Amino acid sequence: MLLSFEKTRPGRSSDYLPDLPKESIKKTLSFFPQDQVRQDAPRLPELAETDLTRHYQELENRTFGINDGFYPLGSCTMKYNPKINDYLANLPGFSDIHPLQPAKTVQGALEAYHLLDTLLSEITGMDHMSFQPMAGAQGEFTALLMIRHYHRAQGNSRRNEIIIPDSAHGTNPASASMAGFDVVSVPSDDKGCVDLKALGNYVSDKTAGLMLTNPNTLGIFDPNIREITRIIHEAGGLCYYDGANLNPILGLARPGDMGFDLVHLNLHKTFSTPHGGGGPGSGPIGCKAFLKDFLPADQIKDNEKGKFCFYMPEQSCGRVGTFHGNFLVSLRALAYILRLGKEGLAQVGQKATLNASYLRNGIQDILPPYFSEASMHEFVISLEDLKAKTGVTAKDFAKSLMDYGIHPPTMYFPLNVPEALMIEPTETESIEMLDRVIEVFHEIYQKALDDPDYVKEAPHKTPIRQADETRAARHTILRYDFKTSTDTENCQA
Ligand SMILES: Cc1ncc(COP(=O)(O)O)c(C=O)c1O
Repeated sequence: MLLSFEKTRPGRSSDYLPDLPKESIKKTLSFFPQDQVRQDAPRLPELAETDLTRHYQELENRTFGINDGFYPLGSCTMKYNPKINDYLANLPGFSDIHPLQPAKTVQGALEAYHLLDTLLSEITGMDHMSFQPMAGAQGEFTALLMIRHYHRAQGNSRRNEIIIPDSAHGTNPASASMAGFDVVSVPSDDKGCVDLKALGNYVSDKTAGLMLTNPNTLGIFDPNIREITRIIHEAGGLCYYDGANLNPILGLARPGDMGFDLVHLNLHKTFSTPHGGGGPGSGPIGCKAFLKDFLPADQIKDNEKGKFCFYMPEQSCGRVGTFHGNFLVSLRALAYILRLGKEGLAQVGQKATLNASYLRNGIQDILPPYFSEASMHEFVISLEDLKAKTGVTAKDFAKSLMDYGIHPPTMYFPLNVPEALMIEPTETESIEMLDRVIEVFHEIYQKALDDPDYVKEAPHKTPIRQADETRAARHTILRYDFKTSTDTENCQA
């Protein structure tokens, strides 16, 4: 597909609007510092409106989102998000305000934040939240900064190790090391849970804390969770809950009751913000009362005179983002929680688990789960046997699904499962869809036995076939090079 810059034809435009009078352009420009006013017109593609509309439509047709079909991307919770929440978040009273407005002019927005703080604290079993972090990984990083500040305030700067299970999401060790900690990896036991005996050997007076998601990335709820958090606390560490997997326990169990001191949530997974493709996200963190003074700035409080204001926590770990986080994402979450209520939220988790169990059972005759433990919202299969029999890999199988209008599941993760596919159907899929997916898995499996080369060359029906992923990763082209604009091969990579 050509870029809009390659479709450009000098002089062609969509000139439905009259040109601005020169005088008014001059007047507008006079408001800006003159050394910052550009002298030449920007190099923009010159296209008719029809060409432009078709260009973007073509791009849209080539993308795949939850509105297009089944999207079982494990660990990502790609569920359907009610459109009404987008509508509410985009009401002008919310979307037209500016973060630099004085607090007294945005009382409604602050009240919304305050209410969401109360609701998410109740849902997670925490006492306070901060909405500054813009993504799950940034929430992790911020919570780790708080852990660091907490130990420092206790005169325990020597605590420099964060314990992380080997099944953890990759962002956990990355965040810990960005926050200046050493990562200590604990092995999983044969059931896919934290190896309790091993954990005892890893804690010491250097332990700053634990990072853990429960259910873990295999979809398995760790039954020893209270014992795990007890061991860490006894060693003087804090327990941090990676809430990216909160969806299946929503309204049913609370990290705070499992012994966690801090959490982050992925509002863009669990609480109704469409995601994928790097759109605006939100990774608020929550903490127990004894950590409140270390929260990032600014916090919002009710000044008890019916007004809301900002304040800086006494020993704040600092500012980790611009202003107050992605406000409109928080609003969607608030609308979602208020609409579902206590009972509706509890059904989210139950249905997510029911759907995943249904799918897992439906394909277990061909592709059994890697761990036989009961799983919740997601499960992991290994294609090691199929690969040994036919040469068809997890990647080939995943790509084949695209020919059936199904987004590939997460591949080769978690790292402790060979030829892994991690499947998360979410609660918003119907039984008809799940039945169809079960049928497709059987079809591809049979094809892999009968004609493995066909599956290895999949996908066959998409605009591009298997991309050269190494080249795409190593030679990423993020900027249009006008000098080599005739090199279309360069642009299409
Ligand atoms: C278990 C887990 N933790 C953390 C994250 C990081 O969240 P984000 O992608 O918003 O940074 C993810 C994201 O997929 C995740 O699955």
